[in-house]
Amino acid sequence: MFDFKYYTPTKVIFGKNTESRVAELIREFGGTKVLIHYGSGSVMRSGLLQRVTDTLDAAGIGYVTLGGAVPNPHLGLVYEGIELCKKENVDFLLAVGGGSALDSAKAIGYGVANGGDVWDFYDYKRTAEGCLPLGVILTIAATGSEMSDSSVITKEEGLVKRGYSSDYGRCKFAIMNPELTMTLPDYQTACGCTDIMMHTMERYFTNGGNMEITDAIAEGLLRTVKKNALILKDNPKDYDARAEVMWAGSLSHNGLTGCGNDGGDWMTHKLEHELGGLYDVAHGAGLAAIWGSWARYVYKDCLPRFKKFALNVMGVADQGSDEEIALRGIEAMEDFYRSINMPTNLRELGVEPTEEELVLMAKKCAIGVGGEKGSAKVLDEKAMLAIYRASM
Ligand code: NZQ
Ligand code: ZN
Repeated sequence: MFDFKYYTPTKVIFGKNTESRVAELIREFGGTKVLIHYGSGSVMRSGLLQRVTDTLDAAGIGYVTLGGAVPNPHLGLVYEGIELCKKENVDFLLAVGGGSALDSAKAIGYGVANGGDVWDFYDYKRTAEGCLPLGVILTIAATGSEMSDSSVITKEEGLVKRGYSSDYGRCKFAIMNPELTMTLPDYQTACGCTDIMMHTMERYFTNGGNMEITDAIAEGLLRTVKKNALILKDNPKDYDARAEVMWAGSLSHNGLTGCGNDGGDWMTHKLEHELGGLYDVAHGAGLAAIWGSWARYVYKDCLPRFKKFALNVMGVADQGSDEEIALRGIEAMEDFYRSINMPTNLRELGVEPTEEELVLMAKKCAIGVGGEKGSAKVLDEKAMLAIYRASM
């Protein structure tokens, strides 16, 4: 077991109609002029944005709005948001939507609070010394950004997708009403469930640390999301299943399922980020498309964990050698992806990179992680390329 820091300052307001409390929460955290930041229009179609502005109007809280955060949110809109906040003297950011709107809001917050070029943080050139306070009304269970310290932004020039993590970027509050996720397309629900599971799996497949309590929480979370993803596939309006998945999304990326380990593996995420940057694929689907190839490449170097996963999460029979059990666990995970209509390779994801593009992604990925990375197995550029090739 390793030493660890566990910091979750976000106030979570969870349940039906909780969005009606947004004005009260903004006030509690000192907001007097708000930037409401959202995506490409789902919050307008659902009427949520109107309800939020009505609530702020009634409470006498001033606001400006900025929509247009796309999946794999763009740096250009972040710059726009920074200028708008400065011009309008905004002192609080409210994201209404998913991880993309929220990550974009976090980047805007860093830009306003620190000055200079906000991309510097994502380019590892300097670290933030603050962020505008922010809150979120979450409409998709997926990234866990509502309780995480990270923000992922894509720079259009060069299609570079990078994450930046800082405790300053943690939300002051997260309003989570599972009912708001019921308008999601089935594909996005499945992408979200995949991402949620991956945030715990990245922390689970390690060669360092590990605590019994953390493993028990992680395995329970994975089984719960797996079960409820299947329920939602047949019944997307099941409130309890929506709620289970939504809360799992937060717990999966707020650090809880990594306490005591070596920090996690994270290579599936890093490999996916290159796909997301280059092809604009949905993050969860990209993860599913890569994971099997990653797992087969690394499992022998992390056999006890792959066996444990196979037995305790995927429920495979305890028969045969450790390697056979581990491989059956990987196959069972891929079967699960297929059962919720997630891809298990790049072709199913809908992209067909050329050899040159695979080489480029591996190169960018290696640069992004500073040469090599991984805990289940440390991967260098050559290994990254091998995994991309295997995922074709
Ligand atoms: O843009 P709108 O119109 O809102 O539509 C969105 C978008 O098309 C739609 N949607 C969201 N809520 C909806 C809805 N449609 C109908 N009804 C609703 N209730 O769903 C689509 C996906 O939304 P998005 O915000 O892009 O999804 P997600 O939350 O999965 O965010 C993905 C981004 O977060 C990054 C990913 O890389 C990707 O850029 N990540 C952020 C992390 C973090 N900050 O901690 C960690 C993750 O590993 C991840 O990398
Ligand atoms: Zn993720």
